Amino acid sequence: MGLADRRIQYETAGLEIDDLLANPADQLNLWYHQAEEAGAAEPNAMVVSTLAADGFPDARVVLARDISENGITFYTNRLSAKGQQIALNPQASATFAWLQLHRSARVRGSISLASDEVSDAYFASRPRSSQIGAWASPQSEPIGNREQLDDLVEEFTEKFEGIDVPRPPHWGGYVLSIDSMEFWQGRPSRLHDRFLYTCHNNVWRVVRLAP
Ligand SMILES: Cc1cc2nc3c(=O)[nH]c(=O)nc-3n(C[C@H](O)[C@H](O)[C@H](O)COP(=O)(O)O)c2cc1C
Repeated sequence: MGLADRRIQYETAGLEIDDLLANPADQLNLWYHQAEEAGAAEPNAMVVSTLAADGFPDARVVLARDISENGITFYTNRLSAKGQQIALNPQASATFAWLQLHRSARVRGSISLASDEVSDAYFASRPRSSQIGAWASPQSEPIGNREQLDDLVEEFTEKFEGIDVPRPPHWGGYVLSIDSMEFWQGRPSRLHDRFLYTCHNNVWRVVRLAP
């Protein structure tokens, strides 16, 4: 079927303002768990958008590893393109899409570094091969070929043989604060339900937006 002819009706249950939890982090956790129960692939995947120095937005998928009132935590190479962009401009947005449930959520906020303790604890929980990978991959840099990457993996595998792999100084967590957040539920005839959370003097307000 051609892309322009695909038309799926979103027959899911509607969303009312009273259905929403008071705090958007709780609501996001709820939707994450519901997506997981529904068998969504990578239900914690989100597209994080940051601004490049040339003014273009850059967006890429990362996995959310924690959602709390402090924000949404993800882990990456801090020397990567996104890391450099965040260092220049911490304002960012993230979008979750749970397509099976006809749901999406998006957040705007500022990105700050996760603490060393949090980054260390998460790094220690990763499989050893991923820990080696964090050392071996100069993320976002051009590399000549796959063999070059394999050689780097071998080099760091030998370097850390017999000892715990330490967290690389350039690898760690980022926390995207939840400054505002929108929840979107698909409904029939494109008359979707949308609710926007904004914070006023530490109190969350929710308004319905037109679809
Ligand atoms: C499902 C999925 C999950 C991903 N999770 C992460 C992640 O948690 N951290 C990460 O650095 N990159 C992750 N990536 C790779 C990023 O999308 C991206 O290629 C990489 O971080 C480099 O982005 P940058 O060049 O904009 O910095 C993931 C990709 C996919 C498709």
